[in-house]
Amino acid sequence: MIVPSFGKKILVIPDSHGRSTESASDIDRYDAAGKFARDEKPDIVLSLGDLADMDPLSPYKMKAAAAFDGKAVRKEALFRTEILNRISGPTRHANERHRRGRHKERIHEPVWIDLEGNHEERWRRYPETDLLGHDFLQAESEDAGWIWHPFLKPVDILGVLFSHYFTTGVSRRPALVNTILNKTHRSCVFGHSHSFGYNQQPVLGGRTISALCAGCFKPPHRTGEHEWSGLIMLTDVRDGAFNIQQIPYDHVLERYGEGAYAQELRQRRAQAAQDRQDASYA
Ligand SMILES: [Fe+2]
Ligand SMILES: [Fe+2]
Repeated sequence: MIVPSFGKKILVIPDSHGRSTESASDIDRYDAAGKFARDEKPDIVLSLGDLADMDPLSPYKMKAAAAFDGKAVRKEALFRTEILNRISGPTRHANERHRRGRHKERIHEPVWIDLEGNHEERWRRYPETDLLGHDFLQAESEDAGWIWHPFLKPVDILGVLFSHYFTTGVSRRPALVNTILNKTHRSCVFGHSHSFGYNQQPVLGGRTISALCAGCFKPPHRTGEHEWSGLIMLTDVRDGAFNIQQIPYDHVLERYGEGAYAQELRQRRAQAAQDRQDASYA
């Protein structure tokens, strides 16, 4: 008899480029993602890097030394920590309730993984940030209960490699989804380009390897034409294989958001249903 076996569930949060200056309605995406994680109970929640924009450290702003604003940089670093807490908060609050209500069997704590993207890596490159320590972002992440992984060091999870992106050739440019498998010969998941792409190749032995470029998680008004925004749930992850569920930004926000944008989505949905009903009576 063949005993069925099941792999793990990994919630991937692609490049969200959070900024402390965003509106409450946009910051709402992190609370919504957190509630989604609480309800879907993935084994692992993984941020693919560029979680925060770290805007004051952008190369343009750093060109003029006078433009360096230590206070603003620190604010963005702490906002990044706030993002991590907003994502893990709903799960932790639910666990706290279960603990108090003596329902230990309901407690579900995923492994929280935080990959460093190029936007976070700037923190370590600029000497000015040394005031707070070059490992400040890492220390903050670890204090918040996340496992930090440095930029471009792929993490192997159940045979799948995760990295903000993968470099190829002497140019060290980010590999593209349609050619990456010829280089890695391994299943891999990455972000950085903000577009969504998927490719799969058979390998000897009847197995397949897959490459996923996971998009981004930015509000629609900050999402470009070539970009896809939402969350990705990888299911049945094992031995380098996985299935993909795309959860578009609006689905996450409509279901879990509390800000103005989420309410507008729900109103639009209700209006569309009303219009359909009116049309059927007409
Ligand atoms: Fe990015
Ligand atoms: Fe990036």
